[in-house]
Amino acid sequence: MSESTIKPPASILFIFGGSGDLNQRKLTPALYNLFIDNWMPEKFAVIGLGRTAYSDDKFRTHLLEGIQEFSRRKGEEKAWGDFSQHVQYLQMDAGDPEAYHTMTEVVKQYEAEWGVHATVIFYLAVAPQLVPDIATKLGGLKWCKDTQTVRIVVEKPFGHDLKSARELNNLLNNIFTEDQIYRIDHYLGKETVQNILALRFANALFEPIWNRNYIDHIQITAAETVGVEDRGGYYEQSGALRDMVQNHILQLLCMIAMEAPVSFDANEIRNKKTDVLNAIRPISREQVHEYAVRGQYNSGWMKGNKVKAYREEKNVDSKSPVETFAAAKFFIDNWRWQGVPIYVRTGKFMHQKTTIISIEFKQAPHYAFPQEAAETWRPNRLTISIQPEMDIRLRFQAKRPGQSMQLNPVDMIFSYKDAYDGHEPEAYETLLLDVMEGNATQFMRADQVEAGWKVVMPIIEAWEARPPVDFPNYAPDSWGPEDAEALIARDGHNWVSLPVKS
Ligand code: BG6
Repeated sequence: MSESTIKPPASILFIFGGSGDLNQRKLTPALYNLFIDNWMPEKFAVIGLGRTAYSDDKFRTHLLEGIQEFSRRKGEEKAWGDFSQHVQYLQMDAGDPEAYHTMTEVVKQYEAEWGVHATVIFYLAVAPQLVPDIATKLGGLKWCKDTQTVRIVVEKPFGHDLKSARELNNLLNNIFTEDQIYRIDHYLGKETVQNILALRFANALFEPIWNRNYIDHIQITAAETVGVEDRGGYYEQSGALRDMVQNHILQLLCMIAMEAPVSFDANEIRNKKTDVLNAIRPISREQVHEYAVRGQYNSGWMKGNKVKAYREEKNVDSKSPVETFAAAKFFIDNWRWQGVPIYVRTGKFMHQKTTIISIEFKQAPHYAFPQEAAETWRPNRLTISIQPEMDIRLRFQAKRPGQSMQLNPVDMIFSYKDAYDGHEPEAYETLLLDVMEGNATQFMRADQVEAGWKVVMPIIEAWEARPPVDFPNYAPDSWGPEDAEALIARDGHNWVSLPVKS
């Protein structure tokens, strides 16, 4: 069980939105698992803040229910008993400036008790419209200016468009230094996403062929088998492009396309990623229909269950133009990637839950084999499966056993589950530990967020200017609208998915 050797310094975590969903499903389970793995600081306190009235005990029970349902480890009596001693609840109205002074008192008390100056983390697990006000009120506390030990964590969505993201960055940067601000994109905490850096930069094998000379095209798919569930209200303001592409998918693209970093310094990694975003060729509004496709799910059947159309979901307008599917084609204008198309797609109620990146290599320059050997010939392909399968597969040609020269494609597979013990930490565990340690490598810097918005803004604007006429245009349990197939088929390719496990 005990993994850790160097623990983070004494920390006090204030969780705004403490009684909410994110804390119950993700944050507390993550902290609890870090605790079991011996990664939590020797001295720490987790303080849930919220308007709901809870006693400490009731709050702990509420969190324990979350652990039982959502944590990778369930609430073992002893471990939970020990962990929950560090948890308390503070009922507070985040709009009331007076309430913030109570937090000062709490910090003073813990520091006096522990005899150390603690790291203080404000985790804003709240609706995006509350962030500016809370941040401004935190700015009123003198001790927030301690740039070494005070940090603020901001969840996505970070802004609604480029303009609002800039405004939010300006507001936060007027109160905190950039080093104090941790903008979360939970995809960056996923083990398989972090492994992309290891694959690319810890092996001499791939880098020499990781460019336009050898790579034909790249695909990124992030498909979900759920609909918008009970998040219709949020989703109406968002849509697939803002919800998944501007952040998660562009981050995956950065990991695949970035130049080799000189070191693992947070700013070095983030500089290299931002370079990618800045090099993505802007799509003009007139070209959007050639480069991007949107879709919205209809009612239908999903794995044997009847499901509603998006427009029938709770808190969704019955004529909603919001997309639940988005696909796009990007180019990166630099020496490494010039001319290599990068196709991305994401959608709700897709046929399969899968997040994969597929790198298709160019064809062999000369083909000496007899014609009949070539019937099933396919170019090499590296497929990085982020979730739920966690593996990397390299497709190559093999000779089929027998007297004739018959070739067929086979996969060489590295599977996390086979290679390791299958107890990978959840993304939020990794990211929360990073915040306590003050390591911002896996967090989004202000310029990165804005560069991400710049990439998607032409598509957003073109779509908003021309409401869709064909929505709903795809059935649940499919791969999205036909136009998405056409987007890639026009270039002679087809979307890659993994074989479904029976
Ligand atoms: C969130 C989106 O950021 O990511 C959700 O808001 C989406 O709509 C989720 O379902 C997907 O995350 P994961 O880790 O399940 O792929």
